[in-house]
Amino acid sequence: MECHVRPARPDEAAAVAELASATFPLACPADMGEDDIRDYSEGHLTESHFAAHLADPDADVLVCDGDGLVGYALVFHGEGARPSPEFGVTAAPASFLSKCYVRPDAHGSGVAKRLLDAAAATAAARGSTGLWLNVNYENFRAMRFYEKHGWRHTGYTEFKVGQRVHRDPVYEFRLHGADLRGEDSGT
Ligand SMILES: CC(C)(COP(=O)(O)OP(=O)(O)OC[C@H]1O[C@@H](n2cnc3c(N)ncnc32)[C@H](O)[C@@H]1OP(=O)(O)O)[C@@H](O)C(=O)NCCC(=O)NCCS
Repeated sequence: MECHVRPARPDEAAAVAELASATFPLACPADMGEDDIRDYSEGHLTESHFAAHLADPDADVLVCDGDGLVGYALVFHGEGARPSPEFGVTAAPASFLSKCYVRPDAHGSGVAKRLLDAAAATAAARGSTGLWLNVNYENFRAMRFYEKHGWRHTGYTEFKVGQRVHRDPVYEFRLHGADLRGEDSGT
């Protein structure tokens, strides 16, 4: 798929929010209620949320721009991004990969890996030695994706979607020795 990974522009908050709301249900378990998904989207994935992330010096919003935006990643750095000790993350300091979402027609295309590499490059640029994330316990595709790219399961955290609290697996990626690419030209 032809696409280019780059930082989102300040005027793209609405476009990234649309992408985020469209793809968030893909990461949810099949029995997740529409109300809970809507609550989460309204509480975390609106234009104003992404406008704030785009203005946050401790955040990077990356997009894959092809025929429109096909995927995005959201990474947090700095003290607010540090994992709790009970998550078992060994990298320190570690950045937090909060989101890595790709439209379904680009799954299996390599777009997600390019976003992952660009997210890792932002962490390295901020002096982090690794990244961590949490993933839904039924999101087997995502877990396989992270594992095949060198991420390791370290522990668990709680993640609230609407009225439901999930026990999400936590994964980490150590940057030492990683072959990182930032923005790319795509193929
Ligand atoms: C997670 C995501 C970014 C991964 O990107 P992708 O392009 O789909 O990933 P890939 O196709 O490279 O890898 C997925 C792997 O999972 C495997 N897989 C697919 N369905 C699976 C399942 N039900 N159980 C186990 N493995 C599965 C695929 O076969 C592939 O492994 P392989 O390359 O060894 O064959 C993408 O699927 C996505 O955006 N999903 C929706 C949003 C999401 O869940 N984001 C992550 C939130 S933490």
